Amino acid sequence: MKTGIFLPYNNFMKEQLERILIEANQIRDRIKNSHELEDFRVKFLGRKGILKDCLDKIVEFEEEERKNLGKYLNFIKNEVEKIVEDLEIKFKEIKTTKFDFRHPGKKPLIGNLHLISISFEKIKKIFMGLGFSVADSSEIVNEYECFDSLNIPSSHPARDLQDTLWVDSSNSRLKNNLLFRTQTSAHQVKFMKENKPPFRIIIPGKVFRQEATDRSHDFEFHQLEGLAVAENANLTELKGIFEKFFSEFFEEKLKVRFRPGYFPFVEPGLEVDLGCLFCAGKGCLTCKNSGFIEVAGAGMVHPVVLENGGINSKENYGYAFGFGLNRIIMLKYKIDDIRLFHSSDLRFIKQFN
Ligand code: PHE
Repeated sequence: MKTGIFLPYNNFMKEQLERILIEANQIRDRIKNSHELEDFRVKFLGRKGILKDCLDKIVEFEEEERKNLGKYLNFIKNEVEKIVEDLEIKFKEIKTTKFDFRHPGKKPLIGNLHLISISFEKIKKIFMGLGFSVADSSEIVNEYECFDSLNIPSSHPARDLQDTLWVDSSNSRLKNNLLFRTQTSAHQVKFMKENKPPFRIIIPGKVFRQEATDRSHDFEFHQLEGLAVAENANLTELKGIFEKFFSEFFEEKLKVRFRPGYFPFVEPGLEVDLGCLFCAGKGCLTCKNSGFIEVAGAGMVHPVVLENGGINSKENYGYAFGFGLNRIIMLKYKIDDIRLFHSSDLRFIKQFN
């Protein structure tokens, strides 16, 4: 039944609808849980709710006004429904979890092993496969261990203060003449004293030298010492070990060459060269056109050193070798500056996972 309601009432109706939306928004901010939300829904959208009430009133308007008010009522209804939907999602999330998934997460910083450690694990595996075990050692040793026991006379240039970093023992309950080891050979005699042959060991560790740094020299770097003592230890075995080790480490078959060299604690002493990785022996900048790269010092353990270690040099032979770990790692991974190893540059460290 049309009642012929006039414009003023129509305006009043519109205002009433506006007030409904304002009220709905105010109540929304106070709704704390899904029970309160249900009350809200019933109050506004329920069968006997406010909006239904308005609809009943609107149908009584003339057609034109009914259309306009109807559109407006629909708009308000949609807005209120949106409020209900949003709050439903919010309360559902709160119910299922304590976390707010919309919040951006924190990415944990994950560390990784240093290239030296990664490489040493590989190297250790190869040597263990060749019958070697790993011996422990300390970075600080005494003068006897690092020099005297190794047949290095006190006049030897390696003892020069320029090369060795000494521990200040002026204020001292400390033993005299402690130093930062300049070579892992410093552990040879101690190991011989404490262990009976036959044995094959490797001793990895950091060594220190007081020298200026450049791309290929650093004041601290890593060495790997090898020592084998047995009745029949010999250079052929040592050469085989080098060939096997380098081929496995570099994952390609490489030539090994021995040249005479001088180290006071081996006799004969050898320089060990490796067929150049970069030019397959043809000659390039890295190998200075020689086709070989120098990688290690080695030799048969000097009888004086065996005797210093309490080993009868008439009954036993030994071979020893030492090489710079950094250097062979640099060759393998094509790293051109040794100082990167102890820089704290994460861009370098993160590359080798
Ligand atoms: N200790 C020697 C060096 O630091 C290397 C080496 C070890 C040479 C064992 C011979 C035998 O240069």
